Amino acid sequence: MIRIDSVTKRYPDGTVAVDRLSLEIPDRSITVLVGPSGCGKTTTLRMINRMIEPSEGTITLDGVDISRQPVNSLRRSMGYVIQNAGLFQHRTVVDNIATVPRLLGWSKDKARERARELMERVGLDPSFAKRYPYQLSGGQQQRVGVARALAADPPVLLMDEPFSAVDPIVRKGLQEELLRIQEELGKTIVFVTHDIDEAIRLGTMVAVMRTGGRLAQFAPPAELLSSPADSFVEDFLGTDRGIRRLSFFTSEALELKKTPIVAVDSSAEQIASREGTDVPYLLVTDLEGRPLGWSAPGDLTAGRIEAGRLLSYGRPFVHGKDSLRAALDCAVLSPTGWAVAVDGDGRVVGVVSQQTIGEAIRSAHAAQERDEKVAG
Ligand SMILES: Nc1ncnc2c1ncn2[C@@H]1O[C@H](COP(=O)(O)OP(=O)(O)OP(=O)(O)O)[C@@H](O)[C@H]1O
Ligand SMILES: [Mg+2]
Repeated sequence: MIRIDSVTKRYPDGTVAVDRLSLEIPDRSITVLVGPSGCGKTTTLRMINRMIEPSEGTITLDGVDISRQPVNSLRRSMGYVIQNAGLFQHRTVVDNIATVPRLLGWSKDKARERARELMERVGLDPSFAKRYPYQLSGGQQQRVGVARALAADPPVLLMDEPFSAVDPIVRKGLQEELLRIQEELGKTIVFVTHDIDEAIRLGTMVAVMRTGGRLAQFAPPAELLSSPADSFVEDFLGTDRGIRRLSFFTSEALELKKTPIVAVDSSAEQIASREGTDVPYLLVTDLEGRPLGWSAPGDLTAGRIEAGRLLSYGRPFVHGKDSLRAALDCAVLSPTGWAVAVDGDGRVVGVVSQQTIGEAIRSAHAAQERDEKVAG
């Protein structure tokens, strides 16, 4: 565990960049530092790998004061990723990624093999191996930066606004990739951003910092949204806090309807018995139970269901795993106003209307507000 204990950084000109900051960064999870420009995020991150030394206070790694550890071995245990990736422009992608293993004395072949393995891990096509950084998009360059930081398999990854320079769609992809990598490799990640949405999306724990390098709140995202510590945090979270909170309400308790589901090989009686029961449409599945599409009323004929004539089922949500917000998105985007719920294998477990999801959201909000009143 990384423990920051009452750390202050005063630059030679007197600027206090970080002011008595204390944080316990849990292992094998993502801790996000978020806050306005100049609040001391980068300074904090760089004190963790000793690119900057604190003026006061201590930082320990697994109980050992990092100021007593040799800088080289400390940095080797911490990958570092920055905005615009900071790649070596005169080296190919594969050699950029192989940099640290080469420094550690690995043979060229072994280092390149490791680099190719990491390219796959971060979602880079193997054909990019011989390209130079200028021949890649911004998002691809960031992936190379992440792969390079992972090359020597450090237990800790420090990331300073790594995705800020790419457009929102690419950024979302990179965030998903990072969550997947973290889950697979179990790294301890400290991630700096000034984007609260990114913080909420990625963080297991989120530290909100304020100008002057002070900690405003350190909490899991759901807690930040439900109980901001003060008006600074509340303002920083913005006005759509209620909508963001929806992401934390699970779809588990949603009541699903199963009657309108018919398999593609259903008989005329089966179809007739299901039509018009409670839902104006029937959802047709393949023989494995995966969704094919909605059928308009009276449109189904046994034995002659044409997948091409069905209405799109949109994007299904995973019942119990996805949030109420995700379920609502599905219903809103569905041509019938009904969302399709599937299990982890993509098999249909039921359908649910936009109206039912809306009611579930309202009652989840009401329940949460009651809890907050009780908690004071
Ligand atoms: N070498 C330095 N000398 C003096 N002041 C500095 C130095 N480096 C940073 N600062 C100041 O310390 C404060 C914190 O800077 P830091 O770079 O840690 O902020 P940040 O939260 O990362 O900001 P941003 O979101 O803009 O990257 C700022 O006021 C900055 O101007
Ligand atoms: Mg910074």
